[in-house]
Amino acid sequence: MARRNVLITGCSSGIGLALAVKMAKDEQKRFKVYATMRNLAKKEPLEEAAGDRLGKTLEIKQLDVCDELSIKACVNSIPDRRIDVLVSNAGMGLIGPIECQTIEEMKTVMDTNFFGLVRLLKEILPDMKKRKSGHIVIISSVMGIQGILFNDVYAASKFAVEGFCESLAIQALKFKLQLSLIEPGPVVTEFERKVFEDGMKMDLSAADAETAEMFTNIYLKNYKQIFQSLGQSAEDVAEHTVKIILAENPPFRHQTNTLYTPMTTLKYADPNGDLPIDIFYKMVFQHDKIFSASLNFIKLLRWRSRKSFDLGKPSQ
Ligand SMILES: NC(=O)c1ccc[n+]([C@@H]2O[C@H](COP(=O)([O-])OP(=O)(O)OC[C@H]3O[C@@H](n4cnc5c(N)ncnc54)[C@H](OP(=O)(O)O)[C@@H]3O)[C@@H](O)[C@H]2O)c1
Repeated sequence: MARRNVLITGCSSGIGLALAVKMAKDEQKRFKVYATMRNLAKKEPLEEAAGDRLGKTLEIKQLDVCDELSIKACVNSIPDRRIDVLVSNAGMGLIGPIECQTIEEMKTVMDTNFFGLVRLLKEILPDMKKRKSGHIVIISSVMGIQGILFNDVYAASKFAVEGFCESLAIQALKFKLQLSLIEPGPVVTEFERKVFEDGMKMDLSAADAETAEMFTNIYLKNYKQIFQSLGQSAEDVAEHTVKIILAENPPFRHQTNTLYTPMTTLKYADPNGDLPIDIFYKMVFQHDKIFSASLNFIKLLRWRSRKSFDLGKPSQ
């Protein structure tokens, strides 16, 4: 099988960096990775991690998903503009009461997480359609299918991604293209650190006392523990993503964190949608001590989730 060109966005850190390196170091050299980032001044960690693969199976390029010209320039710089696998990974988070967020901040999240994907596809999809081949892989989130307290705008941006992809997937089938949404739960990356720090610094004066208290003393207080108990590593998510890319029949949706799956299952268990909202409410406001104890218990069970991931045999 010919080597596949893979373009990944947001490779300065986290999942994008881990995935770029994992694919570039593939023992069978099945991939040529175009690892992109918006700010090339941040390329050192990727260069270090790529080691001797740099300039061989991995090239670093500039690409800002909020800038159409930079996307075009990047795609034009790839031989024959051929991208066999697009991994739309670049993204950002936003937490807190909406009363304390500006519309501009919210628009930046939508512009990056949702319109970033749309801009990429406007440039790359026509070539894939012409060739009748290509795999579009999107790093979505469990928050693309289920909202979480104080993540209103972030969840909305990922819901937008999921709705967009669900529509596009039907057309993609006609052109023999594959689309896969990777849905991680919490992942310990820069994302988690940045979001938490921004939350801690947030000016809560526009919120009423009860909301501010809820955000500080419930949400932020549990935030670190949730990531420590349920959080995956970027490498772990990268491993799942590579398996999806290599799968003979890649699924449309893939959740990477089996510890989190019981929560998202609630969504499908009740067509009225009340069940997950009710359970989250009780967990957070009525049984917070049990919730906290469960998180500790989950820490002990973590090794099991690693063993339960099996997608069957890869295509090559
Ligand atoms: N961490 C989690 O808990 C979690 C869970 C589920 C899904 N996800 C999703 O996973 C993806 C990767 O996040 P991560 O956890 O690896 O976080 P991360 O380490 O913060 O990586 C995010 C990457 O996106 C880049 N980026 C942001 N805006 C961009 C833009 N306009 N153009 C190009 N690149 C841009 C960042 O670049 P800069 O360094 O320049 O900012 C960075 O390289 C995101 O889509 C996120 O929503 C994360």
